[in-house]
Amino acid sequence: MSSTDGSTTTASRSPAAAEKGVGVGLFFASYLKNPLKVASIVPSSRSLSRLVASHVDPAKPGWVIELGGGTGPITTALLERGVAPKRFMVLERDPAMAQFLRDKFPDPVIVEGDALDMKAIFEREGVTQVNAVVCGLPLISLPREIGDQIVQLSLESMAKDGRFIQYTYSLFSPLQYERFGVVPVSVKRTLFNVPPAAAWAYGFPGTK
Ligand SMILES: C[S@@+](CC[C@H](N)C(=O)[O-])C[C@H]1O[C@@H](n2cnc3c(N)ncnc32)[C@H](O)[C@@H]1O
Repeated sequence: MSSTDGSTTTASRSPAAAEKGVGVGLFFASYLKNPLKVASIVPSSRSLSRLVASHVDPAKPGWVIELGGGTGPITTALLERGVAPKRFMVLERDPAMAQFLRDKFPDPVIVEGDALDMKAIFEREGVTQVNAVVCGLPLISLPREIGDQIVQLSLESMAKDGRFIQYTYSLFSPLQYERFGVVPVSVKRTLFNVPPAAAWAYGFPGTK
């Protein structure tokens, strides 16, 4: 493209489109490095992200914890839902994605770390009460003992009326919930994701 002073410039994209492009590239690169831990070649869609966030009640006291932030589509939806950044932590083990999240979201607490270390991280960061754990980790493709441990640690940290939220491409519950003493409280599905997906919310029996 030529500018009026005769110099040559490249066609420019909006900053949001450029950021989206960087995010998608970063996500795909991370998938190539770690297919079982990333488990998808593209980030969650806006539709799925909103469904996931709709399971969280931002008015409840306590922290919202997102496990596996990736490039942040669900982080965006949770902030739009009204989750207070001061009580919102995103845990991401991939250093490049954690840095991307920090640059994109200056306000929530972004921690580069492994969900398996959540207890030590919570202690270090002063997280006492947890209102919701939004799990973006691919529980189905992780080794079972690792997935189980992450679910167990999440539930041990969660308030009695808290929610554990997991999204999945499967038609069935992504959690064998009977083994963990929780029950499904709500399931929402969307066709507007690649592939179509569902967001499940679990809680302790008898809680609203
Ligand atoms: C399926 S991607 C989801 C990313 C994003 N939440 C989304 O919906 O697009 C899973 C993410 O979890 C991260 N992850 C995998 N295992 C992890 C672990 N043990 N602790 C923290 N993050 C992990 C991966 O690096 C990846 O960013």
